[in-house]
Amino acid sequence: MSGDERKRRAGLDDPASSQAIAADIARVVVSRKRIAVRVRELAGRIAECYGQAELTILAVLTGSLIFLSDLIRQLPLKMRLDVVSVCSYPGQATRSQGPRIALPPGASLSGRHVLIVDDILDSGSTLRALQQAVALMDPASLRTCVLMQKVRPDVEDRPAADFVGFEVADEFLVGYGLDFDHLYRNLPDLCVLKPACYRRGAGATGREDA
Ligand code: IMP
Ligand code: MG
Repeated sequence: MSGDERKRRAGLDDPASSQAIAADIARVVVSRKRIAVRVRELAGRIAECYGQAELTILAVLTGSLIFLSDLIRQLPLKMRLDVVSVCSYPGQATRSQGPRIALPPGASLSGRHVLIVDDILDSGSTLRALQQAVALMDPASLRTCVLMQKVRPDVEDRPAADFVGFEVADEFLVGYGLDFDHLYRNLPDLCVLKPACYRRGAGATGREDA
């Protein structure tokens, strides 16, 4: 693929905004077009599921933000929005300390129909920890929606999401909200980076506020 084509696909063909980011992409895994179609479908299924009930979305920072903003604008429902951060690698930790949940102070999910929205279901430890924390808050119902689910036959007893956008292979993705070393969230497509980019980074692939 030519450099110009790569930039066009990355949505960065404006010379003013064009930097090295487009050159870092090895391949587009899910295009913005496919994402848009699927997000509309997911919104339709969610709306059908909740009917007239008032929904409370609990969005997992930071990776879900782009997905969240597209999804909720397609939901013709009364809904509230809360955000939660999940930190598995506090400070300088390089090994997971287990997910720690930070809900906004005063957040009350008691009696609410809660839908957890996250970017990607990988090992499932984030989702499991969140489900356990929210269940303690006595919600009226609790479901989960992820844009992607990685194929991980090696993981036993992974929690299942109720709404899944795409099944993807077990490789590290960036774009549409997902980062590598805090970069690439602004890519409009879901992409794999060139191997040299992953080597250049800090090697953190599941840090806090992932
Ligand atoms: P878990 O393993 O399912 O708990 O996922 C841990 C966190 O790592 C999630 O919150 C994701 O945001 C992040 N994550 C997992 N896979 C990827 C990826 O391919 N790209 C970017 N972030 C990822
Ligand atoms: Mg996440």
